[in-house]
Parts: sequence; structure tokens; C-alpha cells
Amino acid sequence: MTAVTARVPAKVNLQLSVGPPGADGYHDLVTVFHALSLFDDVTVTSADTDSVVVTGEGARSVPLGPDNLAARAVAALVNAVGPGVRDAPGLAIEIRKRIPVAAGLAGGSADAAGALVASNELWGAGLSHQELTEVAARVGSDVGFALVGGTAVGLGRGDRVTPALAAGTYHWVLAFADGQLSTPAVYAACDRLRAGRAGQPDAGGGAGAGEAAGPPGPPQLNTALMAALRSGDPAELGPLLSNDLQPAAVSLLPRLRQTLAAGREHGALGSIVSGSGPTCAFLARDGAHARDLAVALAGAGVCRTVASVTGPTPGATVISVPSTRA
Ligand code: C5P
Repeated sequence: MTAVTARVPAKVNLQLSVGPPGADGYHDLVTVFHALSLFDDVTVTSADTDSVVVTGEGARSVPLGPDNLAARAVAALVNAVGPGVRDAPGLAIEIRKRIPVAAGLAGGSADAAGALVASNELWGAGLSHQELTEVAARVGSDVGFALVGGTAVGLGRGDRVTPALAAGTYHWVLAFADGQLSTPAVYAACDRLRAGRAGQPDAGGGAGAGEAAGPPGPPQLNTALMAALRSGDPAELGPLLSNDLQPAAVSLLPRLRQTLAAGREHGALGSIVSGSGPTCAFLARDGAHARDLAVALAGAGVCRTVASVTGPTPGATVISVPSTRA
């Protein structure tokens, strides 16, 4: 049997600055992506018919039809290269999930990136990294970063990705929430909150790291954050983490306030909602602190479960190839 497996990381946004929505409904972003050591594995196998099977964390809420992002990524690759790229009538996609679904960790985008690199390898399609990135952008805003991994700046919809200079390894605790949040719903709530604040005398005032100050100007890269990343010092990085979507995520799931507060109480250097949430990410001083923080957060009853992870990690990587070609 011919099969290829790719391993793909979750992400957290160290900065997520959101501009106003454009005519296409998408928001202009300046973001700093950071890949985490929480991985899905995507295996593609030549088959008689197309199929998608999902196992693991949150598997039941992943669509299995053409809406599945991994299936859409494969369709986009076939579209880019031509149907002759297939070596069999169908492709079986198997996704082993560890990244929670609709959690602000770009798990669906990771699966799409995994399917892209795995099918590119399986079929010997020979697309370059750059060509895969172009296909990725057609599938979703975060798919390009899942290919690149590491720490990277994302512009436009988040799909224009440039690797960033970052030193060291950071230790994080992720607090997974009971509920899910839909990304479009969180962006819409962000727009509503900003529209509500516009015209108020203190609009834009008093918002700390992670708090949106609306209405927005054009988003700017936080140069202090980039300098902190080059220093490799988590104590410098922690206070500079920011997420414009955080107030919107908290407005839709108010108990996230308690989750974030618990992280701060237990000495997290930075506490943010990850992407559009509802996962919260806490920056620890080191591995030992991350373990203590994870135990404290689990004990505080402010989330469904916790995971200790590190970043940055590589983007989508082929980890097993057919034995005949290994
Ligand atoms: O590109 P992707 O399908 O991952 O985006 C999911 C949703 O997130 C979009 O439909 C849109 O509502 C929102 N989004 C946005 N601006 C971005 C990226 C995503 O409004 N830059």
C-alpha cells in the first residue's frame, strides 16, 4: 500500500492586529504566528475512491465531505497540477487529531497543509514550497503558515507569510475550553464591539495588551515584540503579546475571563486568547514553570483540559514515506 504521513503543528498568534473589514469581508491583518509542539498527523493513501477519516481530539465535529479542509487542499492541488497527477482513482485521507477543533489553534488549516505536503510527496507532484504556499492561500488564511512553521509574520489575510528571526524555545501552557468559537463569528463580534465604541469619548483609550482599541487604524507590526523574539527572553516577550480578537472572543464566551485571570494569578508571563479562541495560551518562564502552571490551571477548574507545549516548531513535515521509497 502506498501511503505518506505528514505531521503539522498548531499555532498561536503572538500579535494579532486586525484592521477594518475589506469589501470581500476579510480583515487586513498584521500577525505574528508561532508554531507549537501540538501536532496532527495526516496520512494519504492511494485508493479506489476518495474518503476522509478523522480520529482523536474533537474528531466528531470535523466535516468529512468536501467541506473538509484537507479534502479541499487536495482538490486545490489537483486543480493546480492537473488531474493526471493522481496515481489512482481516489485518495484516502486519514487525520489523527491532537489539535482541538474550532479552538483558535488553526487545526483545520494544519490538516490542509499536511494534506498538501503529503499528497505532493505521494504523487511526486514536485511542487516547490513557494508553489505549495500559493495553493495553500486558496484553501484558507492560515494554511500558508502551517506549511512554513517556526515564527513568522503574516500580512494581508494572514496568508502572506515571512519567517521571523526568533531565538530560543518558549514554554507555553494551553487551556482548552469546553466550547468552540466560529472564526467568522468572532471577527463579526470584533466589528460590532468596535462600531459600538466608535464615537464614545474614550474610544481607543485604556486598552492594555490583548484588548482591542477600536475603531482601528491600519495595523502595524509591533517592533518591540520582534526585538523581544530576537532576545529569546520570555520575560520580555510576555507583556508584549496582544490579540485584537480577544475582547470579541471573551464577549462570546465570558468564562474565558476567569481562565485568563487564573493564568495571571499563577505567574504566567503573558496570558492571551489564541487567535479567535477559545483556547487560552499562557507563556511560562521555563519548562518547570510550565508544568506548575499546567497543574494549577487544571486544578482551578477554569478549562476543559491543559497541555504543556513548546514553540517554535517546524511546519508541515513528511514523517513517513512508502517503504519502497524510504
Ligand atoms: O481564510 P479562512 O477560511 O481561514 O477564514 C475564516 C474566516 O475568518 C473568514 O470567513 C472570515 O470571516 C474570517 N477572516 C477575516 N479576515 C482574515 C482572515 C479570516 O475576516 N484576515
